Amino acid sequence: MHAINSERQASSPAAIEEAARHAFQIGCSHLDKVSTWMRRPAAGLDVLELGPGPNFGSVLTLAAMGARVAVADRWLPQWDSAYHGPVYARLAELIEAGLPGCDTTPIRALVAAGAHLPGIVTTYPDAELLTGAPADGFDLVLSNAVFEHIVGVESAARCLYAVTRPGGTNVHQIDFRDHRDFSRPLEYLLMTPDQEAAWLRQTDYHCGTQRRAGAYVSAFRSAGFELVRAHVSLTADPAYLADFVPRLRACSGASLQDVDVAELEELSTGYVLRKPDGAAA
Ligand SMILES: C[S@@+](CC[C@H](N)C(=O)[O-])C[C@H]1O[C@@H](n2cnc3c(N)ncnc32)[C@H](O)[C@@H]1O
Repeated sequence: MHAINSERQASSPAAIEEAARHAFQIGCSHLDKVSTWMRRPAAGLDVLELGPGPNFGSVLTLAAMGARVAVADRWLPQWDSAYHGPVYARLAELIEAGLPGCDTTPIRALVAAGAHLPGIVTTYPDAELLTGAPADGFDLVLSNAVFEHIVGVESAARCLYAVTRPGGTNVHQIDFRDHRDFSRPLEYLLMTPDQEAAWLRQTDYHCGTQRRAGAYVSAFRSAGFELVRAHVSLTADPAYLADFVPRLRACSGASLQDVDVAELEELSTGYVLRKPDGAAA
């Protein structure tokens, strides 16, 4: 198992600036999702982010706007004083400069304590388990580039359904590319099921899986979610697709040998899901 988020992060001034700006940018895109899909301010919302990566700056941006926040990651990062303190201190400055009405006290409290204080950001160890997470506990669950790394997509979808409040929303961006080489994003579909299984064991899902969009939609629907929107944000280059499709059709051992070209063309999609009002956990 490769605990990616606990590797020592670069802590040069340039690296800290980049990490803080990246977290602020994702945090602002989370705020856009709140206003688009929740149609209300972030204050008072319970928000869970899956797979935030090496720092929690994105949800802390929501905390500065009054949300109660939590994260779930299969590899939760350990506090690194050379990295987390400076990133969060810089993030607090960016938030104060860019978001009127913010209160960065929670972020500054983490910096002062030198710890991810559970009263400010609750942590859960895995989207497939969410051990200890409250049933019907979250108004909004978010993830970016996480689902393609999850081993048990069906069990994660069921867990997320259980912790989402009736009437609550999930927004998940999923990247269907072979992460080994984004310029050749479908090559892994040429593997046989046995080859894929061995490769997934070796990479521990760090490079994505062969699953296509339909498999995720079916997992979300089986869990009980309504699909509000599926927005394809990235499609395969036509020249690459024209070269790839005949190679796939000729690959008799590939499990997706006959899949629709539309499923191959779709490389990244944002899903908005809703747990019906009145639904039980
Ligand atoms: C590609 S990174 C995305 C990081 C961040 N969301 C971003 O967009 O920059 C994938 C993240 O998903 C996390 N992850 C993988 N499997 C997971 C699981 N079962 N539950 C929660 N997080 C998981 C990884 O540890 C990592 O933090």
